[in-house]
This record gives sequence, structure tokens and C-alpha cells, in this order.
Amino acid sequence: MKIAVVSGASSGIGKEFVDIIDKKCGMLDEIWVIARRGQRLEALQHHVRRPLRIIEMDLADREKLLELRALMERKKPQIYVLAASAGFGKYGPNTSLDYNDCVGMTDVNVTALTALVTMSLPYMARGGRILLMASSAAFLPQPGFGIYAATKSYVLSYARSLNQELRRRHIYVTAVCPGPVATEFFEVSGSGGMLAAAKRLFMADARNVARLAWNDSMAKKELSVYGLSIKAFRVLAKVVPHHWILKGMSLFA
Ligand SMILES: NC(=O)c1ccc[n+]([C@@H]2O[C@H](COP(=O)([O-])OP(=O)(O)OC[C@H]3O[C@@H](n4cnc5c(N)ncnc54)[C@H](OP(=O)(O)O)[C@@H]3O)[C@@H](O)[C@H]2O)c1
Repeated sequence: MKIAVVSGASSGIGKEFVDIIDKKCGMLDEIWVIARRGQRLEALQHHVRRPLRIIEMDLADREKLLELRALMERKKPQIYVLAASAGFGKYGPNTSLDYNDCVGMTDVNVTALTALVTMSLPYMARGGRILLMASSAAFLPQPGFGIYAATKSYVLSYARSLNQELRRRHIYVTAVCPGPVATEFFEVSGSGGMLAAAKRLFMADARNVARLAWNDSMAKKELSVYGLSIKAFRVLAKVVPHHWILKGMSLFA
């Protein structure tokens, strides 16, 4: 059975990935779609041609991750695309954040993403693609959004090394690093003061971000960065000492 696996498929960028994969990957038998809101996943079926396997689960639940792994072991699919888009962030300094949100960010953005990749690797097809949702937040520590930014630095680092490790198997990994994207992400994250408000001036469209990520993945690029301003931010974060930038950012916090 030839499949694609998409986490975070109920909303935003993940939902766009499902649509793109449905249109571009004619050979697939099924797309496995993962999120907690099962009704949204079921509704997706009306918009795509390929059969969806609805996997309604909380990715922060390690038992559920083991069940998903067992499903893969039973079905032994050939995975052509893995798009790990599930993730969330919460604005606020560590001291003001809820314990469950702090641990939840690492559970979903780091642990579940790593679990999804690791359980999928034995089944990845030659020529397969892995798209991992990082963020421009990966480029720089972000006081007031620190845990989220750290989880995305993990994803970026992990994706880049994985891409090297898997080249011999002809599997290509792309870290997707957009700036702010107009999705439900900001309903979940809460508001983050002046700096967060300023970031929203650069809001991108989820469809465009997903489309570029797909094209970059097909071109075997290890990084997908949407938009000139975010590309410029990446260069800035590479060449200017981080403590200088952090000092500047603190003026707007
Ligand atoms: N929007 C942005 O500005 C932005 C910028 C850079 C990077 N990103 C990253 O892009 C990815 C997609 O975000 P988005 O903008 O599309 O946000 P979104 O619209 O809020 O989508 C997040 C997705 O993650 C799923 N998810 C969250 N927690 C989950 C959990 N515990 N278990 C299972 N699924 C869970 C949600 O599904 P359910 O709620 O149905 O479970 C939803 O499908 C995230 O990794 C995010 O960090 C977003």
C-alpha cells in the first residue's frame, strides 16, 4: 500500500499539505491524516479524491504513538511522503505559562515529531520525501516565546542531519521555516505583546507556504523559507551576534 502521512491535517498548513499531496501524488492508495479533531479530518474527505485514513489522536499521548507504530507494523505501508505539521506555541515568559502548555510544546513539537519520523523510517520508499514543520523561530532564541523557539531549533537541526543520513537511501528531508502564517496557530498561541503584533504584519498565506514547501521538497532542498523578509531575518540571525539582536528585541517586549 502506497501512502502519505500528514500530521496536523485538521487545520492550517497541514490541511494544505493534504490537498497538495492529493493533487500531486496520483500513485497513492491512501493518505493517513492525524489530528485530535476527528470530525475535521472526516470533513476533509469531501475535498480530496484519495481515500483518507482518519487517525484521531493526541500526539502528546505516548500510548497513542505506540498504537500508530503498531498500525504501521501491521500494514507495512510504503510511505512516499511524511509531512509532520502538527505543532503549537504559547506566548509568554516561562514563569507565566501553564505547566501543561510548557511540557505540551515539547511533547508535540519535539517528541511526537521524532516518534513519527522514527516509526516511519523503516517504511519510507526510495525517492520519498519528509517535510518537517520548523519555523523562522528556529533561527534565534525568542524570550517570551522561548520554549516554542527552542522546539523549532530542534526540528531544524534534526531535519538537516536526517537529510544527510537518508541521502544514501534517496530520501529527502526539508525543514520548513516560515515566519507568521495566517492560521489558527495564533488563536492557540495567545497574544505576545508588541513584538508578536509586529511579526503579524508579515503574515503569509498557508496555501502559499505549503506550496513552496512542496516545491522545495521536490527540488530536494533541505530548507524552505517563505518570503523575502523571513529570508532576510535568517541572514541577520546568521551574521549578527544573537545577544545584540536579543538586546534590540527586548526594547519592544
Ligand atoms: N502559523 C504560523 O505562524 C507558523 C509559523 C511557523 C511555523 N508554524 C508551524 O507550522 C505547523 C502548523 O501550524 P499551523 O500554522 O498550520 O497551525 P494550526 O492551524 O493551529 O494547526 C496546527 C495543527 O496541529 C495539530 N495539533 C496540535 N496539537 C496536537 C496534538 N496534541 N495532537 C495532535 N495534533 C495536534 C492541530 O490539530 P488538532 O487541534 O485537531 O489536534 C492542527 O491540525 C506547526 O508545527 C507550527 O508550529 C506555524
